[in-house]
Amino acid sequence: MMPAMRRAAFLSAVVLGAMSVSLHAPELTLPLKPNSVRFAVIGDMGTGDKPQYELAGKLVEYRQSFVFEFVLTVGDNIYDGSAPIDFENKFERPYKPLLDAGVKFYATLGNHDKPNESFYKPFNMGGQQYYTFKKGNVQFFALDSSYMRPKELSWLETELKRSTADWKIAYFHHPLYSSGAFHGSATELRGILEPLFVTYGVQVVFAGHEHSYERVKPQQGITYFVEGASGQLRKGDLRERSALTAVGYDQDLSFMLIEIADDAFHFQTVSRTGQTVDSGVILRSAIE
Ligand SMILES: [Fe+2]
Repeated sequence: MMPAMRRAAFLSAVVLGAMSVSLHAPELTLPLKPNSVRFAVIGDMGTGDKPQYELAGKLVEYRQSFVFEFVLTVGDNIYDGSAPIDFENKFERPYKPLLDAGVKFYATLGNHDKPNESFYKPFNMGGQQYYTFKKGNVQFFALDSSYMRPKELSWLETELKRSTADWKIAYFHHPLYSSGAFHGSATELRGILEPLFVTYGVQVVFAGHEHSYERVKPQQGITYFVEGASGQLRKGDLRERSALTAVGYDQDLSFMLIEIADDAFHFQTVSRTGQTVDSGVILRSAIE
């Protein structure tokens, strides 16, 4: 090879190398404010199959840029079985780097989960089917939407009433609003929960069950997210031209990253290939 050609080949290799680095650097829309509350949301993930592992790998990759402290799961955590090997293959192995880094998971149960998952230590449910916890100025209400009994409802009302947190976030498996063709909205559950959310100032709700991603247009001031595609995927499931949808994505798996800094709730939804499929901010001042 002529020296000039060799140099050109070397230069193009350098350029390509630089390009591939920038292509693989996680694209972050979140502001990374000091002392913010940072977490991820995943749902319908526990298949133990390759796509779950690939998305988990992407989540781990994003944590290098966005150091979140915990993960909410909106259910269907472990499909098809609850033997130790199921917990190992469908949870401990795919999320090992996060667990090793001390990231805490706060689970809720889906229709495919066994009630005994609430005793599984890494799910941090303390043996409860529903529970609440605080992080900074945010209070979370983890619900069991498969068995919404009067006892749970009165517990929820008591906890919401006495909460002094700036942000109140509820999460559970069945979506009150969804444009998914397979299940759609859980309207009966909506009739029970929505009045409590509106009365006591819940601003954001996460659910799963429908195996796609959707951000629903605010309903009575509340933003509803559906993230049920962190392992399972139902391609093309979102009904087109649904009046409910603000943004939807049903072409690949995804997870959500959230950063709450004072009165601003920032969100970013990322696909298995690292594409940002949705992002934005919800301001408390615009709601209350
Ligand atoms: Fe489900």
